[in-house]
Amino acid sequence: MELASKDRPLCLGILLSGRGSNFKAIARSVAEGRLPGVEIAVVVSNVADAAGLEAARNLGLPTAVFVSKGRTRAEHDADLIACLRAHRVDLVCLAGYMRLLSPEFIAAFPNRILNIHPSLLPAFPGLEAQDQAFAYGVKIAGCTVHFVDEHLDHGVIVVQRAIPVPESDDAHSLAARILVEEHIAYSEAIRRVAGGEYEIRGRRYVKRVG
Ligand code: GRF
Repeated sequence: MELASKDRPLCLGILLSGRGSNFKAIARSVAEGRLPGVEIAVVVSNVADAAGLEAARNLGLPTAVFVSKGRTRAEHDADLIACLRAHRVDLVCLAGYMRLLSPEFIAAFPNRILNIHPSLLPAFPGLEAQDQAFAYGVKIAGCTVHFVDEHLDHGVIVVQRAIPVPESDDAHSLAARILVEEHIAYSEAIRRVAGGEYEIRGRRYVKRVG
């Protein structure tokens, strides 16, 4: 899989709906030189007052808003695709984007959409994964960065980070500790994908050697 080229940076398109802490962690990695050859081309939201959007504006990054209310998924996603293409986006990063993508969107960026999920998939897909994990009584929790396919929280796993769940944890403290891992995992996954030295074999992300 070759995404990067020597002539131009790998352009990220970030999609978010909320506070944007994962986006900010990615932006920090770019700014601090931990993602060489990678730049954020555009930050897009379906929520006009998303805090993450404001953070992107403050960083001087291009932003776009496509309010989804009252539009079909296909109409809305067609606008998103056009926007991402206009910004020459190579890799789409979902960072708390709280809307399902249409099959057309997924087909427009095959194996070029990453998502972060706050559990060790395939455990606890869907909403409030940290609460689900805590209520289940897990002793190990964590997060997953995966390619997006047409099923929810399902595609090929690129990075997982695991943490123990001490008995002193509550759902809130567990979510906060998972978030710390998310911020590390997302940049790590982008670095791996941007490097291009990998293959997807069935469900497996495999680093290419030699
Ligand atoms: C994160 O927990 C992420 O795993 C999930 O949505 C949350 C987004 O948080 N998909 P933030 O907006 O990046 O702070």
